Amino acid sequence: MQHILITGGAGFIGSHVVRHFVKKYPGSTIVNADKLTYAGNLLNLTDIEQEKNYHFVKGDIVDGDFVFSLFEKHKPDTVIHLAAESHVDRSIANPMEFVHTNVLGTVNLLNAARHHWKDEPDNKRFYHISTDEVYGSLGDEGLFTEETPYDPRSPYSASKASSDHFVRAYWHTYGLPVVLSNCSNNYGPNQFPEKLIPLFINNIIQKKPLPVYGKGENVRDWLYVEDHAVAIDAIVRNGKPGETYNIGGHNEWKNIDLIRLLCKIMDEKLGREPGTSEGLITYVKDRAGHDLRYAIDASKVKDELGWVPSVTFEEGLSKTVDWYLANGEWLRQVTSGDYMQYYREQYEER
Ligand code: NAD
Ligand code: TYD
Repeated sequence: MQHILITGGAGFIGSHVVRHFVKKYPGSTIVNADKLTYAGNLLNLTDIEQEKNYHFVKGDIVDGDFVFSLFEKHKPDTVIHLAAESHVDRSIANPMEFVHTNVLGTVNLLNAARHHWKDEPDNKRFYHISTDEVYGSLGDEGLFTEETPYDPRSPYSASKASSDHFVRAYWHTYGLPVVLSNCSNNYGPNQFPEKLIPLFINNIIQKKPLPVYGKGENVRDWLYVEDHAVAIDAIVRNGKPGETYNIGGHNEWKNIDLIRLLCKIMDEKLGREPGTSEGLITYVKDRAGHDLRYAIDASKVKDELGWVPSVTFEEGLSKTVDWYLANGEWLRQVTSGDYMQYYREQYEER
C-alpha cells in the first residue's frame, strides 16, 4: 500500500477513511478523487489538507478519461472506492443519477485498474465499499450473512448491487484482485443532514418538525463511522482477494426508539425542558418500498480479521451531537442553496 487512491474521500465516510489513512500511513501517498457533489465537502478535511502524503483531485468517476488519467498520473497500487450517490430518497426521486455514478463510475474504475495492473498484478487491491441494503429487507428475525442472496429493493440498493456484481465479475473473469465489504448504517460527524440522524439533529436545533416515515417501526443497525474506517483498514490489508466481509455494529434500533433517545440527549445538551424535542415528532407518509429491517452477522470479519466495533451507541451518539453543536458553520454552509430546494420537495410537498 504505497499509493492509495480513495474515491469519494470528501464525503461522510470517505473523509473519515482519508483522515485515518493519512495519519496512520505517513509513508504512503493518499490521493482523494472526488467530484464534490452536494454531499462532498473539502471542509471535512481541513485538519489534514496540508499533510505531505495527501493530495486532492477533483473529478467525476463517470468520466472514463478522467479515471484513466488518475491511474496514469498517480499509479495507485490500492483503490478504496467509496464514491457513490448514497441516499435512498434521492434514488427514488432520480434513479438515473445512481446508475451513472454507482454502476458506470465503478466499471470505469475497474477498467482502469485492469488496464494499469495487467503487467504487474502482484500486491494490488481494488476494494469496493458497499452496503447491507443489497440483501433486501429482513422480518423480525435473522441476520444478513455474506451468503444471503441479493434482493435489492430501492434504486439505490439496486445500483449498489449492480456495482458489486461487476466487481465480482472482474475477479472471476479477469482475476482482478478485488475485495468487498457490505456495511450497515453509519453515523457520526460530517454526515450530510439528509440522512436520519444528522437531519433530526439539525431539525431539533432549529425546532423544526421531525418527519418520521410511517410508524417509525423500521429497524436499522448503526455503526460509528470511525469504527467503519478501522474495519476498512483491516480488510484492505488482510482481506482475502475475491472475498466479501459484512460489517455491522451489533446495534439494532427501531427508528422511533432511536429518535426518542436522540431527543432526550439533545434536550439535555441544549438545556431544554425534558420532552421538548419529542414534541417535534411528526409522522409523515412512508417512504415508497421502505425496507423493514436490516441486521448484520459480522462474525466473519471478527473471526478472520479480529475487527469488532469499539464505540458504544450512547458514546457515539453523544460525540455526534457534540460535533454538530460545535460545527454550526459547517451545518449552515451545507444546508444553504440547493438543500432548501431538496427539503421542500422531499418533506413539504409530502
Ligand atoms: P456520501 O454521499 O456522504 O459521499 C459520497 C461522496 O462521493 C461525496 O464526496 C461525493 O462528492 C462523491 N461523489 C459522488 N458522485 C461522484 C462522482 N460521480 N465522481 C466522484 N465522486 C463522486 O456517502 P457516504 O455515506 O460517505 O457513503 C460512502 C460509500 O459507503 C458509498 O459507496 C455508500 O454506498 C457506502 N455505504 C454508506 C453507508 C452509510 O450509512 N452512509 C453504509 C454502508 C455503505
Ligand atoms: P436513512 O438515514 O435515509 O438510511 P437508510 O434508508 O439508508 O437506512 O434512514 C434511516 C431510517 O430512518 C429509515 O428507516 C428511514 C427513516 N427516516 C425517517 O423516518 N425520516 C426521515 O426523514 C429519514 C431521512 C429517514
